[in-house]
Amino acid sequence: MTKLIVGNWKMNGLKADARLRLGEIVTPVSADIDVAYSIVLCPPATLLGYVRQALDDLYICGEATISVGAQDCHAESHGAFTGDIAPRMLTDMGCTHVIVGHSERRHGHGETDAQVAAKAQAAHQAGLITIICLGETESERTAGHHFDVVSRQIKGSLPSGVTPANTVVAYEPVWAIGTGKTATADDVREMHAHIRQQCGEGMTILYGGSVKPGNAAEILSTPNVDGVLVGGASLVAADFVAIARAASGG
Ligand code: 13P
Repeated sequence: MTKLIVGNWKMNGLKADARLRLGEIVTPVSADIDVAYSIVLCPPATLLGYVRQALDDLYICGEATISVGAQDCHAESHGAFTGDIAPRMLTDMGCTHVIVGHSERRHGHGETDAQVAAKAQAAHQAGLITIICLGETESERTAGHHFDVVSRQIKGSLPSGVTPANTVVAYEPVWAIGTGKTATADDVREMHAHIRQQCGEGMTILYGGSVKPGNAAEILSTPNVDGVLVGGASLVAADFVAIARAASGG
């Protein structure tokens, strides 16, 4: 199955960095893209239109391309929401995907499961594919509550109307994000089996949290891991390419 490799640039990058990084990603992946893996890049909102245009200029081959996704959206279609971005504004810029419920939004901005579900539903209505993030904190895992937390997040954050065509689920244990601590292969296998059981066979399930070139092959070959959501390492073109290549066996 084609793996999905998503780069979440978070709040990093200006136009010049993006142009350089895209140039270094597009050429090495052009032979494999959409064969061994698909790629979605999620730059900050300020760069979405710029990255889409730059990728179109760099052009890969045939129908294959790198998709562009946003890191968040609002649940309303328009209105007095200063600083927010509606899903339709994202499709207007050429986005096909949007991340919702990232732990940095849940924990840094107090987003609840219900808010995440409302955002995802609005994104689906606009025709976007949502990447809905789930994951327990370190204290929840230490207390042995990780399966319950993720079950509650699945129940609360996936809106009605979720299908494998409009949704990707990303398991990102909060304690593994940006810490260099990766979940063990057993942790990943157990949690992905748990998510698979609840979300069904067709759902794409990503792992995220300190994915690097050195651990990508093992993570990507774990059962029920359909791809990875990469933060820090997606800012280094060579590392991101190496992670994608791990999906094609190196
Ligand atoms: P890191 O890869 O930097 O741990 O970040 C993971 C992440 O949050 C991706 O969304």
